[in-house]
Amino acid sequence: MANSKTIDDYRVQFVSHLAQEIQSKEPKNLYEPINYILGLGGKRLRPVLTLMTTDLFGGKSKDAMNAALAVEMFHNFSLVHDDIMDDAPLRRGKTTVHEKWDINTGILSGDAMLINSYQFFESYPPNVFKELISLFSRTAIEVCEGQQYDVDFESRDDVSIPEYLKMIEYKTAVLVAAAMKMGAIIANAPQEDANAIYDFGKNLGLAFQLQDDFLDAFGNPESFGKQVGGDIIENKKTFLVLKAIELAPKEQKEGLMHLYSIRPKEAASKIETVKSIFLESGAVEETNIAISDYTQKAFDALNAINISESNKQVLKKFGENLMKRTV
Ligand code: IPE
Ligand code: IPE
Ligand code: MG
Ligand code: MG
Ligand code: MG
Repeated sequence: MANSKTIDDYRVQFVSHLAQEIQSKEPKNLYEPINYILGLGGKRLRPVLTLMTTDLFGGKSKDAMNAALAVEMFHNFSLVHDDIMDDAPLRRGKTTVHEKWDINTGILSGDAMLINSYQFFESYPPNVFKELISLFSRTAIEVCEGQQYDVDFESRDDVSIPEYLKMIEYKTAVLVAAAMKMGAIIANAPQEDANAIYDFGKNLGLAFQLQDDFLDAFGNPESFGKQVGGDIIENKKTFLVLKAIELAPKEQKEGLMHLYSIRPKEAASKIETVKSIFLESGAVEETNIAISDYTQKAFDALNAINISESNKQVLKKFGENLMKRTV
């Protein structure tokens, strides 16, 4: 039964399968970075959702293992390339792949992971395969689009909240949504339920990225695992800065916009000033409200789904815990 398994059970089940995928193959400079990033851990949020959703819709989570591996492999590919694009030094508390090796290594190892992720679907029967691949490919393209918007926005000073929301929907939320819909597909759930769980995942994913933006500025550097202030250094147009621009008095707003047009070598004082404007303007409060709102929207999407109340509670619990995360 679905609700007799805990999140940790799914994670353990997943990680033991992932460990079997990690082999030291030649050429070392292609495979070592792959094993390195996959072995650094992480929350394993997306594969856990795929396995759990399969059970919740009455399927068998072991049938979803290859889809879960595909999703986590794709996610890790996207992180390796994202860290190059964001010039990030730290991932999961360790040196990023492109800094430990070099940028070319990060590009090619990432490419190989993307291809690997597709290979995991080869085990599915043709009709399921087709459905999974078509969802996965559409999602992967959307992630690329989201990533491009994210980078384009760095050099713009007129990004709107709706544009931001579209960007995070694509770069982050659709993969969470697809991870869950794949579970529904594998469990042979009705189309409407598969779409409703996609909606749940999408809204949860939006809340998740809003939270990620918040933690990027206000997370604890000891435990967050990424460089705190990285988004501020990179002039990322996060919800925090867009709200602060909207809410701050004229002088602070102008100061903030100036800080988001420069890239000082010594970033500490920029980060401190920006964070205090985030706090004083009410942008932090607004971000927290938005996180709860999108989590609530996710819960609303559950109403339409034809699964037991106790299974819905499992998903709500998951969403509530995600809101409280610190990493
Ligand atoms: C990081 O994802 C990238 C985002 C979409 C914010 P996670 O926060 O799920 O990263 P790991 O896998 O747990 O390290
Ligand atoms: C990442 O967004 C989205 C993808 C990797 C596709 P971020 O750039 O905010 O993720 P982190 O903060 O580096 O994990
Ligand atoms: Mg990043
Ligand atoms: Mg990024
Ligand atoms: Mg981030």
